[in-house]
Amino acid sequence: MNELKFHLIGQFKLSSDAAKAKDDVAKLMVKANEDILRKGAPPGGGAEVVNWNLDENIITVEIKSDRYVRAHDALLRLRRSLAALLGEHHIGIRGVVIEEFTIQLPSEEALKKKIPFVKDMRYEEGKILLTLDVDEQQIENRVPDRIINLIMEKIESRKYGKKEHWELLWQSKKKIHKFREDPTKELMKRNWIKHGAGRGQWIFGPQITRVFRAFGGIIEDEILRPLGYHEMMFPKMVPWEVWKRSGHAKAIYPEMYYVCPPKTRDPEYWEEVMDYYKVTQEVPLDLIKEKIDRPIGGMCYAQCPPFWVFLQGETLPDDIFPIFIYDRSGTSHRYESGGIHGIERVDEFNRIELVWIGKPDQVVEHSERLQERYQHVFDELLDMQWRKAWVTPWFMAQEGLTGLAEIKEVGTIDYEAYMPYKNDWLEFQNLSVNGNKYPDGFNVKLQSGEELWSGCSGIGLERWGAAFFAQKGLDVENWPDKFRKRVGELPEIFKFL
Ligand code: SER
Ligand code: ZN
Repeated sequence: MNELKFHLIGQFKLSSDAAKAKDDVAKLMVKANEDILRKGAPPGGGAEVVNWNLDENIITVEIKSDRYVRAHDALLRLRRSLAALLGEHHIGIRGVVIEEFTIQLPSEEALKKKIPFVKDMRYEEGKILLTLDVDEQQIENRVPDRIINLIMEKIESRKYGKKEHWELLWQSKKKIHKFREDPTKELMKRNWIKHGAGRGQWIFGPQITRVFRAFGGIIEDEILRPLGYHEMMFPKMVPWEVWKRSGHAKAIYPEMYYVCPPKTRDPEYWEEVMDYYKVTQEVPLDLIKEKIDRPIGGMCYAQCPPFWVFLQGETLPDDIFPIFIYDRSGTSHRYESGGIHGIERVDEFNRIELVWIGKPDQVVEHSERLQERYQHVFDELLDMQWRKAWVTPWFMAQEGLTGLAEIKEVGTIDYEAYMPYKNDWLEFQNLSVNGNKYPDGFNVKLQSGEELWSGCSGIGLERWGAAFFAQKGLDVENWPDKFRKRVGELPEIFKFL
């Protein structure tokens, strides 16, 4: 059977000739094979030094192992024991060099990918053979183990595809929709919106802005105030540090907008660029590329992650929880490529993000109360045809993962609205219990030592608008009375000839 197997040749570089310690080293190697490299493995398993050699100040070892004590862990165990033993002879270990390191991984198929620190990858019936190029530091940082996980993940995801979970939880009654047009087309026809100069970006005119503000008013009066929310302002430029902790650093690259600072703010350094523009009226992009630094992060993507720096590393008293906060201080940005569609799928969007934090039962309970409030809004105030689905948690999906969270209460509910014009559904907001993911990632603790959880819910204004207009159209007479009152007279300011 093809199992996970390791083969490693390594060298310990010593501070001086160790000939006098040779007998002791020989004894240690025997003990290693009987005991040190077997610890933790089932009988017969573990690692084994199959060959070794001492030549002046170099000890070379050849290790074979199974998955229980992986060869690179065996090498670190040996280093520890050797260091103690050689210490008695006043000899130190100066460093460890990995001469050769191959891993055999069971797989039904080959994998044609470039993997970091893998200098060669071959396929032979039933197994992938990897040759790694790693040093001592990388072994200590568990790079080989992560390489194995990464390859297994890639094989898995190829086998089962990238399909996200979707399971209907609830749906409203069917409604009769008089309006059946694409809302974006209608919005453009009436000049309520115009394309911004940027990709996937809109300029919202006075009428639709009034509607968005009415949505905001509903959210404030029906949700934020009754549930005890407090407003905060989260940063909108998100450095790598945040995305490393939130998990986004694993997968965000094709969708994020990168932020690069200038290498210097010295005007003289930039004079060339300025002058080039002045004489050509063209912005010299290649020249700029040379003068900006590497990206320090990206623009706001998921909205809540940068908030957590506010609590990072803190231990907090239990009695301040549950805490309810929200942010509506700026836009979010995603590179949507071909997926851009009207105001439904955009590169720049406006979202109100709710975050609640507390003990697990507080967080789960609040998720239910929030769901009730949303239900009230969509049924009573906006009269929508909508449904809820249990989906792959956003914090997993954004890390490139599929499936569901391990704990049943943890996960995401997508709210979807029926879009008559395309006889399909549009996700217009979500609501999630994120479990301990964020407190864990940002190292936030409760004084009592009890577990801290959080949840969040993102209300997309463009999405609310797309859903509402798709079902109700743009004629105010056809809007639900309560909403109409809230919106009031739509401002007609611009006229185009
Ligand atoms: N942070 C969540 C998301 O990005 C809710 O807005 O989906
Ligand atoms: Zn969130």
